[in-house]
Amino acid sequence: MKKLVVLSGAGMSQESGLRTFRDMGGLWEEYDVMDVATPEAWERNPELVNRFYNDRRKQLIDAKPNQGHFLLAELEKDFDVHVITQNVDNLHERAGSSKVLHLHGELTKVRSSVDPDLIFELDGWELKLGDKCPKGSQLRPHIVWFGEAVPAMDEAAEIAAQADIFLVIGTSLNVYPAAGLVHYTASSCPIYVIDPERPPISMKGVTFIEEKAGAGMLKLKSLLGQS
Ligand code: APR
Repeated sequence: MKKLVVLSGAGMSQESGLRTFRDMGGLWEEYDVMDVATPEAWERNPELVNRFYNDRRKQLIDAKPNQGHFLLAELEKDFDVHVITQNVDNLHERAGSSKVLHLHGELTKVRSSVDPDLIFELDGWELKLGDKCPKGSQLRPHIVWFGEAVPAMDEAAEIAAQADIFLVIGTSLNVYPAAGLVHYTASSCPIYVIDPERPPISMKGVTFIEEKAGAGMLKLKSLLGQS
């Protein structure tokens, strides 16, 4: 089976009702990244950071995978699909995708503030200040904040290098190292981009599908000869 590698971003979940970051009305219009998505913010104002992620977890509980997620999961019938996502929601998994690598962490998980290997599924949406890890530290969102390392990046680069087909869907390609994944693909690997706006890709041989995720995945299926 051909290996179809996907890099997804917040646009993938927009039709599920989850906000993107840099579109009109995006999360970074309402919140300053430096106040809610850095380790310094967590030290300075853990109440605000914790509330930001609790609110997003609450929304995620009511959100459902959209047609784009389901069509991508269905492609596993004909391709060896590897989803590399910048998204911290679990909608790819809930739609049935079986290989999902989260570059920026996962909303549904929390971890020790002193031992990053101590990771736990959060029961429900609310993390409370005072919820401690077994080593006695405050549990924190299992999110890669700005300025923190992206531990899964090496694995993601290896997967991208093996792609027979590479799909970029719903990301503005603003944030590195994730955005640099396209450059790990072999020169022979066709790249498809699904996004109503054209994100900046300077490479040749890119096929742009200027649609939202759901409609774009339908078009991609026919381009890939999946009736
Ligand atoms: N379908 C497909 N694409 C869409 C849709 C949709 N329904 N709606 C919006 N988009 C596109 C936008 O045109 C934009 O290119 O999704 C992209 C969203 O870009 P961003 O809001 O920048 O989100 P993303 O690229 O995922 O951000 C990357 O930045 O803040 C950090 O860690 C955060 O993972 C995030 C990273």
